[in-house]
Amino acid sequence: MDNTKPEDFEQPEQSFQKEADMAESRIRALERANSQKTEVVDATMTDKAGHPVTLRSWETDSGVMVRAYDTSKVEVPEDPNPGQAGHAEAHFDRSFDAQKRLRLNYIETNGEYRGTGVGGQMLNQVEQYAQKNGATEIYGSIENQDAQDFWKSQAGNGWEIDYSQGFYGHARKVMS
Ligand SMILES: CC(C)(COP(=O)(O)OP(=O)(O)OC[C@H]1O[C@@H](n2cnc3c(N)ncnc32)[C@H](O)[C@@H]1OP(=O)(O)O)[C@@H](O)C(=O)NCCC(=O)NCCS
Repeated sequence: MDNTKPEDFEQPEQSFQKEADMAESRIRALERANSQKTEVVDATMTDKAGHPVTLRSWETDSGVMVRAYDTSKVEVPEDPNPGQAGHAEAHFDRSFDAQKRLRLNYIETNGEYRGTGVGGQMLNQVEQYAQKNGATEIYGSIENQDAQDFWKSQAGNGWEIDYSQGFYGHARKVMS
């Protein structure tokens, strides 16, 4: 005996609606995937010690990862790793006003490459990303005295230190 009740049968309109909902959610997933598409941008420099350095940036709509590699020692990888000579990372804040603030989560140059211009160049890559993606400002907290001296050296590039924030201050650049 067939126990199927009339309400167990799916109406053609309902089935059509389900298909349309599924198609809609597939489109939304595709849009999300596309909006997070990663663009890879390379820049090269010779640091003050004569090392050939490539800076590779992995850029999405939400932020950028910059990694520095001394190409006389290592190859530049397809996917981001910690970075052999240095690393920097910045992400957009989820803000509720019209401002698009890019937060510099960290910037660090590794041992022998410090003081050779790698940090300044990584910052430059972050700034280019900010410009390209309509950031109104970039900011980050300063973690120590040496870093504060680095940020002071960036005054000519439009960086200022807000000493009222944190122990060593906040570095900030308003984008023009
Ligand atoms: C801060 C840091 C990222 C700077 O990177 P870097 O590669 O050494 O910086 P650069 O070589 O590009 O230096 C750029 C300028 O900053 C100055 N500078 C950098 N570090 C300095 C220091 N410790 N004291 C004084 N000046 C410094 C340089 O003299 C240079 O000035 P110039 O362009 O007039 O010559 C690096 O020292 C570091 O990794 N520190 C440890 C991690 C850290 O504190 N990160 C920052 C957290 S806010």
